[in-house]
Amino acid sequence: MNLSYQHVFQPGTDPTAAPLLLLHGTGGNECDLLPLARALSPGSAVLSPRGDVSEHGANRFFARLAEGLFDPAEVTRRTHALADFIAAASKHYGLDPARLTAVGFSNGANIAATILQLRPTVLSGAILLRSMVVLDQPATAASLTGKRVLLLNGTADPIVPVEHPPHLAALLRAGGADVSQQMLPANHGLIAADLTTAKQWLA
Ligand code: MLT
Repeated sequence: MNLSYQHVFQPGTDPTAAPLLLLHGTGGNECDLLPLARALSPGSAVLSPRGDVSEHGANRFFARLAEGLFDPAEVTRRTHALADFIAAASKHYGLDPARLTAVGFSNGANIAATILQLRPTVLSGAILLRSMVVLDQPATAASLTGKRVLLLNGTADPIVPVEHPPHLAALLRAGGADVSQQMLPANHGLIAADLTTAKQWLA
């Protein structure tokens, strides 16, 4: 069993609610998205790992060369490591991968997207908050059939170039994912509309 990532697990109280995988942003930790998860789906089981890469003390899920500049080999290696953890933790805690939905913010949304591209069987779908294209490769045909993805980005985000969200949506649709992509009047930070839109999508 490879439960190598420090993490929080909270059992669900409503068996009909999809379990959630929480993936925090740069500099965050496994507790950051717990309030968001509770607001999104109060009865869901929650699995929340801490990024195991340190950028001058800031936790991340993969190293970067500079802001917005990524090494595909590093991203690929870390994506497989996290996917292995998710598979092992799902088994350990009794979470059904066919119902597990990722909720990722920023760097966490980016690794949720690369998991969908490289290891689609560990997730049933994802809510990607302020994600960008990290691996510019389309998902394998039919690998994401039946999986739903919500992309929420900000029109005034200084980190995510405006052409990235539609491009990422296309990379995921190439695998057959049912992708909803919306731009909100926001910067890189979350606003109330992220919660209301994500809650509606999840329901
Ligand atoms: C961040 O985490 O600051 C950016 O959204 C992108 C990334 O480096 O993954």
